[in-house]
Amino acid sequence: MFKQRLLVFTVGAAFMAASAVAGAVDRAQMGGEQLFSFHACTNCHGAEGKNPVSRLVPKIGGMDAAEIHDKAMKILRGETDSEEAKLMKSAVAYSQACDAPPSAAEIEKIAAWLSTL
Ligand code: HEC
Repeated sequence: MFKQRLLVFTVGAAFMAASAVAGAVDRAQMGGEQLFSFHACTNCHGAEGKNPVSRLVPKIGGMDAAEIHDKAMKILRGETDSEEAKLMKSAVAYSQACDAPPSAAEIEKIAAWLSTL
């Protein structure tokens, strides 16, 4: 009996914590720099897209905005077929944080920010 109540309480608390976090994150207000880390692009491309974790990951900080946008969208739509691109697609589209993948508008903000670096 006690265990059952505890379980209900735990699930309830976890749910509330999750919605509190969801409420605190307003993606529409985020700029390119914040979105770059929110979508975990930093995990592979490194700070400012200039410090990739592996030589298989390209440096993207300072590239032309339209080129970043086009290339990232192609990868995320699955239109490129290198193994590296598949890696990026699966990491971004099925993010560990269970967030929705970046929208085209968000990629545009990220690209605009990266192009200024
Ligand atoms: C799991 C690691 C990983 C994550 C996370 C990741 N990328 Fe990538 N990204 C790669 C790899 C690897 C490539 C190279 C793909 C290829 O060679 O076909 C790449 C390529 C790119 C390119 C094309 C660069 C070029 O010159 O060809 C862009 C633009 C890009 N990523 C942007 C992003 C953005 C924006 C995010 C976040 C939404 C992101 N990436 C998240 C690994 C990652």
